Amino acid sequence: MPITSHTKAAIGAIAILYGTLSGAAAQDADNITAVRNEDGRYYTADDVPTFNVAEDGTVDWPTYEGFRRYHSECHVCHGPDGEGSSYAPAIKNSAVDMDYYDFLEIVASGKMESKGGTEFVMPTFGTNRNVMCYLDDIYVYLKARGSDAIPRGRPRQKEPKSDAIRADQKECLDG
Ligand code: HEC
Repeated sequence: MPITSHTKAAIGAIAILYGTLSGAAAQDADNITAVRNEDGRYYTADDVPTFNVAEDGTVDWPTYEGFRRYHSECHVCHGPDGEGSSYAPAIKNSAVDMDYYDFLEIVASGKMESKGGTEFVMPTFGTNRNVMCYLDDIYVYLKARGSDAIPRGRPRQKEPKSDAIRADQKECLDG
């Protein structure tokens, strides 16, 4: 097909549109970058929990805690390291792509889908303290995995657990 001035104009318009869309995506990526550390927990500019990995590979405490809690509560369905299984999706990607509040909502309320006569059930964890008291930890761990900030497996070095985190956990588990 000869390139007419029409086609060129169309290509130009697509390029502009694409530029705008990828600009928006770049802003969403700030769902990742930590701008604030509050007693060992890291947050984005929008106050959404996130991970922090130092240059030597040391992870924040919540990411380490999340690794442990994920592997005791979620990995049976979602696969080791958040990689997914034939039964349940790779939630390391969901943690990056989904809105934080939607992520929390699905874990608290559950979800179900029927495909080809099989029911795929995401349980309701809203009253399970072993999940709900560590949900931000699980979320930041998965986000670190989904953005390839940490490799598969147990993080080797971690920041110490802060007194504030210790107190919050105790209050949540006892409360
Ligand atoms: C009994 C199996 C099972 C367990 C245990 C489980 N899940 Fe799920 N989960 C699923 C299934 C199946 C789906 C897909 C449901 C659907 O598509 O309706 C899902 C979906 C999700 C989603 C939505 C993903 C997306 O991209 O739409 C999130 C988030 C999630 N699970 C988080 C968790 C977390 C966090 C844990 C551990 C606390 C966990 N799940 C434990 C089976 C499980």
